[in-house]
This record gives sequence, structure tokens and C-alpha cells, in this order.
Amino acid sequence: MSSPQVLLKVENVCQQFGDNLVLRDVNVEIENIEGRGQVVAILGPSGVGKTQFFMILAALRKAASGKVLIGQELKPVRNGQVGVVFQNYYIDPWLTVMQSIIRAGKQTGLSAKQSREKGMSLLGKFGLTERKDYYPAQLSGGQRQRIAIVEQLMCSEHFLLMDEPFSGLDYKAKQDACALINEVAHDQTDGQDNTVIFVTHDIETALMAADRIWFMGRDRDAEGKIVPGARIVEIADLVAEGIAYQPDVQFSPKFLQLAQVIKERFCDPKGPYTS
Ligand SMILES: Nc1ncnc2c1ncn2[C@@H]1O[C@H](COP(=O)(O)OP(=O)(O)O)[C@@H](O)[C@H]1O
Ligand SMILES: [Mg+2]
Repeated sequence: MSSPQVLLKVENVCQQFGDNLVLRDVNVEIENIEGRGQVVAILGPSGVGKTQFFMILAALRKAASGKVLIGQELKPVRNGQVGVVFQNYYIDPWLTVMQSIIRAGKQTGLSAKQSREKGMSLLGKFGLTERKDYYPAQLSGGQRQRIAIVEQLMCSEHFLLMDEPFSGLDYKAKQDACALINEVAHDQTDGQDNTVIFVTHDIETALMAADRIWFMGRDRDAEGKIVPGARIVEIADLVAEGIAYQPDVQFSPKFLQLAQVIKERFCDPKGPYTS
């Protein structure tokens, strides 16, 4: 059996501001497991370095050292290759939904006609066809999030990064966002699944939406003191655990059990997640 194709590889990534070492030798990869788009959650306490890692993954910031490689040939990630949805879902207030989408499509060399066709297909999938001529101010927060995702899917190469996509959402809206993230991962508009990586400090939504969780924390030395610089210290494979996303997965005994274990670890004063 041949080994699975690697979609993204992070090699020895370090980040430092002055003498503040934020990331230390982050090494992690995403394999293409046949038949499903990957959803990866980066989970860790506030301030640990998740957003810094996110910026490096998206090529929005340069790492002090190390590499992020993506695509068939595992080349260093370039700005624009990875779709990015920020916490505030920025979309241009002066353009209608369809105008924004056509602009995003043109950025990758599609014609206006091609952009409109691809955009209509994505809008249909996300239940937004009727909103195509609306301006952002006429949309709800949830609709803006969907439009921001559609725009990114117009111009990125099957990778979508989201920073804290659940922040400020109520319980039901969080569930809808989990479903949406999984729809995006399995969307085959271009005949290929998407890889979605999202950052969160929320244990439940990470468990609910992801196939795999990368836990970001810091090591301790022999005396139990924190070693500066976060890395991916643990990985949970939720597909193997049988609790990958499905509606109501959060009520299954296995899910609740794992959530409990993670909560205890996040509070352990000798563990990798407390300061
Ligand atoms: N521009 C910067 N200059 C110096 N330190 C920074 C800068 N940006 C972030 N940091 C530091 O990086 C660390 C990680 O921040 P961040 O990635 O935002 O955490 P998280 O997203 O996990 O809450 C923090 O300790 C913060 O002080
Ligand atoms: Mg952050």
C-alpha cells in the first residue's frame, strides 16, 4: 500500500518577537485521507500562539525559521494560495455579494462569466442564492460568514483557514457553523475536497467540527517550569475515535468523555496548557 499523499507539511516553524519565543519547532502535517476533506482544529488556551501560527500557515507573516509546504509538490506556501476568514468576516461594504464574488474569481484569472457560474454554484450550496444582490449591511452575521467563505473558496487552492470562527455565536449558530465547515470540506465544486483549518480556544466546538485536533501547548522542564515557545504537543484523531462531525455528535458518550478528559488537561497546573 502506498503511503497517503501529504497536503500540508509544517517543518520546524519558530516565531520570535524580541526575546519572546512564541513558537518553537512546530512540526505537523495533514495527509490526504481518501474520500473526505480534512477539518483540522488548532486548539489551545488564549495567548499560547494560535493566531501567530495561523498567520504563518496563511503566508501572511514570515516565520523566524522553518517552513510551511503545501500542494502536490509541497512547495512553500504563497500569499493568496490559502483562503483566510478572519474573526470579523471582512467583506467590502460597497459591493453586492455577487460583485464581491466576481472580483474574487477574477483575482485568480477566471472570466466574469466563469466567476459568476462558480459563484452561483457556491451560493446555491450555502443557501445564499437569494442574497446575491444584497450589500453586506443587509446580511446577518451568519450570512456574512458564509459569504466570506464563498469569496475565499473562489480564489484559494482548496485550503481555508479560519480564526476563531465560533466566537460570539450562540449555541445554535455554533452548531450551524460546525455543519457549514464540514460542508465546505466536502464541497466538490472544483472536483476536489477542501482542507479547512480553524483556530479555537473552545473545546466543544473543536471536538464537534473537526476530524483531527492539533493541541497547542508548551513543554515543561524537569522542575516543572514552562519552556518558552508553543508547539503542537498532542493530536487527537476524531475519525479513529468514531466522533468525526455528524449532527448531534456532541451528545454521544464518547464525545462527552473526551471533552471531560480535555477539560481536565486544560486545567492541570502541571500540564502543557496552563502558565
Ligand atoms: N507583534 C507582536 N509583537 C510581540 N509579541 C507578539 C506580537 N504578536 C503576538 N505576540 C505575542 O505572541 C503570543 C501569542 O499570541 P497569539 O498568537 O495572538 O495567541 P492566541 O491566538 O493563541 O490567543 C502572545 O504572548 C503575544 O504577546
Ligand atoms: Mg488568537
